[in-house]
Amino acid sequence: MKILVINGPNINMLGIREPGIYGKQTFADLLALLEETAQEEAVTVEQFQSNHEGAIVDKIQAAYGCFDGIVINPAAYTHTSVAILDALKSVSIPAVEVHISNVDAREAFRQISYAGMYCEKTIKGQGLEGYRQAIRYLKEKYGK
Ligand code: DQA
Repeated sequence: MKILVINGPNINMLGIREPGIYGKQTFADLLALLEETAQEEAVTVEQFQSNHEGAIVDKIQAAYGCFDGIVINPAAYTHTSVAILDALKSVSIPAVEVHISNVDAREAFRQISYAGMYCEKTIKGQGLEGYRQAIRYLKEKYGK
């Protein structure tokens, strides 16, 4: 099973950006967690991070026919991007949305998620462990 993990803008700044909200673990720690989870679950995991909305749309389109599942943290684009929502709908690949922080308890502008309108599950407020949970969910439901 092949899973694509997509991270949106500023996720590469983990460990530096707002540690009180996102924690002290770094982006490198996230990449290590993804590798570890791939081994544990015996799946192939590819990670893609971009600060650019169009690059994320391109990556989702390129996933068509290549990946069995998507884990996506669109970061700030969660709350603004109809383009990412439409890209997810276009490829029709099972997807899980992850947020490191508990967006429910944050500002009003974070209460809408466009990508979440497509994703079949959302994991929020679990820190980096949310990515592990998302991969496990996809493996259990769609893994061969
Ligand atoms: C985030 C929450 C978003 O509101 C924010 O813009 C991010 C990260 C999270 O993982 O908690 O950049 O997606």
